[in-house]
Amino acid sequence: MRIVILGSGRGSNADAILQAQRAGQLGRGRVVQIYSDRPDAGILALGPKHGVPADFLDAAPYKTKLDGDAEQHYIAAILACRPDLVVLAGFMRVLKPPFLTRFEGRIINLHPSLLPSFPGLDGIGQAFRRGVKITGCTVHYVTLEVDGGPIIDQAAVRVEETDTLETLSARVHAAEHALLPAVIARLSERFPG
Ligand code: GAR
Repeated sequence: MRIVILGSGRGSNADAILQAQRAGQLGRGRVVQIYSDRPDAGILALGPKHGVPADFLDAAPYKTKLDGDAEQHYIAAILACRPDLVVLAGFMRVLKPPFLTRFEGRIINLHPSLLPSFPGLDGIGQAFRRGVKITGCTVHYVTLEVDGGPIIDQAAVRVEETDTLETLSARVHAAEHALLPAVIARLSERFPG
C-alpha cells in the first residue's frame, strides 16, 4: 500500500509512521513521499532521516485552503506517486472537491480530539478549556465536511486534575503516535502482499 503523507508542522506523527514501518509494524504500508506546504516544516527533515523523498510544495497564495493552481500541482504531484492512501498528518489546509474527488475514499486525517467534539483548530486546547474529563484523538476519512468524515478509530485520553495544556498535549500526542500507524497497518491488510 503506497502512502503519501502531507504535513505542515513538526512531523512527529509522520515520524511515528516511519518508525513503525522500520520496525515492521506498518503492515503492507510503505511511505513513498512526504509533501509539506511549508518550506521550514520539521516534517521535511524526516526525508533524510528515513530515506524517503520529502519536498516542499507551494500552496500560495492561499493560507488555509488548497485551491486553484496550487491544488492542481498537488494533485499532479501526488498522482505521480501512485498512492493507495494519502495521510494528512498535521496538514493545516482545508481540502476541496477537485482534490477530494480525485482521491476519494483514500484520504485519512488525524485530529487531536474525540470527534465530533472539538473539530477545527486547536482541538486539544478546546477540550482543555471546556473542562472535559476525557479527550483523545481520531483518525477519519476526509470528506467535504471539515473533520466530519467517517470515523475509522479513536483513542481516549483522560484529563487529570493536575494537567496543564502542555501535559495534556503530550499525552494526546503520544496517543496519536500509537493510533495512526496502527490504523494504517490495519487498512493495509486490504492490499495484496
Ligand atoms: C497533530 O496533533 C494532529 O492531530 C494535528 O496537528 C498535529 C500535527 O503534529 N492536526 C490537526 O489539528 C488537524 N486539524 P505533528 O506535525 O507533530 O505530526
